[in-house]
Amino acid sequence: MSVLVVGASGSVGSAVVTGLVERGVEVRASSRTPQKLSLSAEVRVFAADLNEPESFASALETVDRVFLYADLAEPEALIAAFASAGVRHVVLLSSSSATSPGASEDFNGSRFLRVERAIEESGLAYTFLRPGGFASNAARWSWGVKGENAVPLPYPDAVQVPIHEQDIADVAVIALTSDTLIGRTPILTGPDRLTLRDQVAIIGEVIGRTVAVIEQTEAESAAMLSRYVPEVWVRQIIKDWREAVGTTPVISDEYTRITGAPSRTFRTWVEDNARLFR
Ligand SMILES: NC(=O)c1ccc[n+]([C@@H]2O[C@H](COP(=O)([O-])OP(=O)(O)OC[C@H]3O[C@@H](n4cnc5c(N)ncnc54)[C@H](OP(=O)(O)O)[C@@H]3O)[C@@H](O)[C@H]2O)c1
Repeated sequence: MSVLVVGASGSVGSAVVTGLVERGVEVRASSRTPQKLSLSAEVRVFAADLNEPESFASALETVDRVFLYADLAEPEALIAAFASAGVRHVVLLSSSSATSPGASEDFNGSRFLRVERAIEESGLAYTFLRPGGFASNAARWSWGVKGENAVPLPYPDAVQVPIHEQDIADVAVIALTSDTLIGRTPILTGPDRLTLRDQVAIIGEVIGRTVAVIEQTEAESAAMLSRYVPEVWVRQIIKDWREAVGTTPVISDEYTRITGAPSRTFRTWVEDNARLFR
């Protein structure tokens, strides 16, 4: 039997593929543009789109577990296709936003809850990975760091617990290679509470330059972000920052309990990705 990794081009998905190959697992990988993937030769690659369940027919042959992104509007048909193809266990990259109060009314929480519910109702075994904010969100600052040695932000004192995408992948690989995480919904965070200002300072320390924070208004931030992300995300990102000022977000120990290792720090993420900022 084999494991299908949907979203093998993604930062988490590609690390899941690598982790499974290292464990000798037979891996199938899918992408909407498989020609852009560069994976090890033993990985069979398929073209498939989450919004077209029938596109998964060939990819699902011989598959008993699937790693899945939640980026789909109508999950029921896809999950039914998984079940009828013989998939036994789905490991979903969900979000801690699915656990926030009012998640079912919230734009971000509800889209993950919808996929989680479709999987629960299908009767398939599941693991829902519920990470908080990714360290890789800091990649959006790369142009400012490179060009101006500065990061404009409306709420530099917003507090986060950024998680390295490799930590999420490590837990996914354990879930996809044993039954130990079936029925579990681990919240995953990094090890440290850091303001956005702290994160900018760490980037500067790693690349050996002083990087300034330039305070901007919400309107200025929205205008800037909308060059890179859809409008609905612009509102969500700014709202999350605004609401995170002065908070004490939970630090989860699930990564360590599951893997036995300490979770990776934001500094490690910056060191691993320093080319983005130099
Ligand atoms: N950023 C955060 O702070 C945060 C926090 C919690 C949860 N999340 C969730 O984590 C995910 C992002 O993870 P990441 O950084 O690894 O993502 P990423 O690097 O942007 O990759 C996204 C992956 O999703 C796949 N995908 C998207 N739409 C698809 C579709 N219609 N059909 C097939 N594949 C599709 C893409 O595949 P192809 O393009 O190759 O087809 C790609 O491999 C998102 O679901 C996000 O909501 C993010």
